[in-house]
Amino acid sequence: MNMTKWMAVSVAAAAACGAMAANDKYVDWQWKAVEIQDKDADNNVRNQMDFTVPVHGPWLTLPSETGMTVTWITRIPCAGGIAYREKGTTNWVERWPVSYGQIDYSKDIHYYHLTGLKPATEYEYQLLSNLNAEETAYHMIVARSREIRSFKTVDQNRRNYKVFLTSDFHGGGRLCVDPMIDRSGAADADFFFFLGDNVEDGMYSNIRYFTTFGFLDDVTRKWGQFKPTIFMRGNHDIAGRDTFKYGEYFPQPDGKTYYAFRQGPCMFVAIDTMWPRKEKLQQEQYLKYLAEQAAWLKNLKQTKDWKASTFRVVMFHVPMFPGEGMKDPYAFFGEILADESQEGRVHAVLAGHEHEYARVNPNTKETRMAKRLNKDPKKYPGQYLKRSPIPDRFPYVSVLCNLCEAMTIEVSPEKLAFRSHDVNDDKGEFYDAFAIYPDGKVEDLIETTAFPFEAPKKK
Ligand SMILES: [Fe+2]
Repeated sequence: MNMTKWMAVSVAAAAACGAMAANDKYVDWQWKAVEIQDKDADNNVRNQMDFTVPVHGPWLTLPSETGMTVTWITRIPCAGGIAYREKGTTNWVERWPVSYGQIDYSKDIHYYHLTGLKPATEYEYQLLSNLNAEETAYHMIVARSREIRSFKTVDQNRRNYKVFLTSDFHGGGRLCVDPMIDRSGAADADFFFFLGDNVEDGMYSNIRYFTTFGFLDDVTRKWGQFKPTIFMRGNHDIAGRDTFKYGEYFPQPDGKTYYAFRQGPCMFVAIDTMWPRKEKLQQEQYLKYLAEQAAWLKNLKQTKDWKASTFRVVMFHVPMFPGEGMKDPYAFFGEILADESQEGRVHAVLAGHEHEYARVNPNTKETRMAKRLNKDPKKYPGQYLKRSPIPDRFPYVSVLCNLCEAMTIEVSPEKLAFRSHDVNDDKGEFYDAFAIYPDGKVEDLIETTAFPFEAPKKK
């Protein structure tokens, strides 16, 4: 989106989801001592060398049938370990950070890619900590978190479930995460997708502040320590010098930022559209990375998981409509996704970035959304669609997500039911609601209005 429009959004970023009305609370973060009533206080008072209460996190990422990634931040650098076990068993597996043969005491951010797990299985985990002899004279205790947290690995036999999807809330989690989840009824979702522009402005000089205060603390508080989130990058998430530390907070073992997995009937594909760059070298790398992802997507279509899925949902940050600076995603992915065969079909392509809701049905150019939004015909359809040529072949549903999108997708073997909830409305109103069937057919689930496409005016 253009800078003027974004600035207007940025000013109200924290209030983005409630600018109009309907919020009567926000979440504040404070350091706070907590009083614990305990008859055995003398023995149970926490040792000062126990760092198993994270200052941020833990948050879960990279869900798969056999793995999960756990990341958290401790108050000071220490050896941060993890103990985990299959729920119902007694033996814990412990892992500690090892660097060049030694236990590593140097980091305050810790992550583990737990691998070799059983599919469709609940695992429990505890955080561990230890200090080295340079930090403490006596108390080199191995501390173990008092909380036992848990998560479940991906279950291919799960036929009916829900996912939650948001986009572009620009660090406003303190105000908008609760209404987004509560008003969309997404607390029981299996997975949570963030389509990017998760930070308020950029990663300018303190990624930790912008990510934790902006959204990770709220994610952890609501679901993040028990259920995985797929954090995609937007152009703001790759702006600023601290963007190069991105992998410390959202680590992937392959060093990539694109990802796909299937659960039961539906496969989810997260593409990193990045953003055109100013530096020659970086621009070349940006194009190489898009080409790398296009090759990966082509291969993905040949995998067992792709073929076993009834539905495929692809997610971008920058949309594929080839307008403004967004021609690159279309150039790299447009052709691969324009596949109408049963085994190659993509059912929906969702994107953010534009801060304005719009749906375009397969092979049409009309914009659809809830009829009630027809109150101001000048406002809809989005200016964005007016200024961007729409290609002839988009054989899937294209959705542009709202600022602070609050979308649920109910997955079943029969259909995908999408509902874009109006986060400013506490009576359950929608921006849109529709279903997609295995053959790509679309059904409106509420009364909608179709706005005809207007070709952009030539300047
Ligand atoms: Fe964006």
